[in-house]
Amino acid sequence: MSVNVAVVGATGAVGEEFLRVLAERNFPIRNLRLLASARSAGKKVIFKDQEYTVEELTKDSFKDIQIALFSAGGSISKEYAPVAVSAGAVVVDNSSAFRMKEGVPLVVPEVNPEQIRRHNGVIANPNCSTIIMNVPVWPLHQVNPVRRIIVSTYQAVSGAGAWGLYELEQQQRAFASGQPIRKEKFPHPIFNNLFSHNSPIGPQGYNEEEMKMVKETRKIFNDPRIMVTATCVRVPIPRAHCESVNIEFSRPMTPEQVRQILSRAPGVKIVDDTQTNTFPMPILASHQDDVLVGRIRQDISRDDGRGIEIFISGDQIRKGAATNAVQIAEKLI
Ligand code: A2P
Repeated sequence: MSVNVAVVGATGAVGEEFLRVLAERNFPIRNLRLLASARSAGKKVIFKDQEYTVEELTKDSFKDIQIALFSAGGSISKEYAPVAVSAGAVVVDNSSAFRMKEGVPLVVPEVNPEQIRRHNGVIANPNCSTIIMNVPVWPLHQVNPVRRIIVSTYQAVSGAGAWGLYELEQQQRAFASGQPIRKEKFPHPIFNNLFSHNSPIGPQGYNEEEMKMVKETRKIFNDPRIMVTATCVRVPIPRAHCESVNIEFSRPMTPEQVRQILSRAPGVKIVDDTQTNTFPMPILASHQDDVLVGRIRQDISRDDGRGIEIFISGDQIRKGAATNAVQIAEKLI
């Protein structure tokens, strides 16, 4: 069965990746509609050797559309996802607009694919750092329930959108030509620097990105008892996030058990070569769908054997956004 697909935010970092992933996976598309702001209307885009024209997103954009992939920010999703659903489409939404809403499935296909069929028109794609962490932690949780996670992230600039990459490149060019480094949308220079994730800080002192990792993991794992604390940091890397993850299990767990479980876990690739000091890195994870896992070791700060340390890297535009959404869409048809 082939379907009519709309991509909302088709000119953005994730939108462009949607198109790449749809083409690579040979998603059965009958008609494709590319939607963005009025600024991009008329722009030509090649998809599978065929030229498409980007259209301005309007309330009439979803006629005859069966699947709408949204990645144009939360306010666009809030305004237009209900319009798409009324027109008969199922929305897979990459924004945070509906993720924590009761009745909206929040899905990582390797973790909770059974939630997909419970949708009422909208399925939410989780936060990128959350997806990348959940893919390797879930199969471990199945064997030995996770009690607590302490995670620190090293997040690439393109996670902020195409503008984040542009801003890093501008600052690199300015540095190379001896010009002053100018910040535009990031709150601080990102070149030769790193800073606490550029999302607002809430009443408990955690930023929004950190709270997404806490709350979304509980919803995806369907386990409100899992304790998660996160520190999210933006680093001057174009693409692919890294995360240092300390996991406390219910029972003792050895690095060998972790390695064995993860070696057959879907969506995971072990990169853990202590001989050459080769572990997960953005240059290895970029443009890949697998989450790379390495530095698998016992947490020596505890004497009960219940702690494991891992270091991971995953392409936040692919598995952290576009690939995850397309995998969800594949299960809808
Ligand atoms: P446009 O390129 O026309 O601005 P990113 O996450 O990489 O910043 O991309 C955001 C995406 O959301 C882009 O495709 C952008 O289109 C789209 N977008 C932003 N504002 C609107 C809007 N008001 N209506 C439709 N699409 C929008």
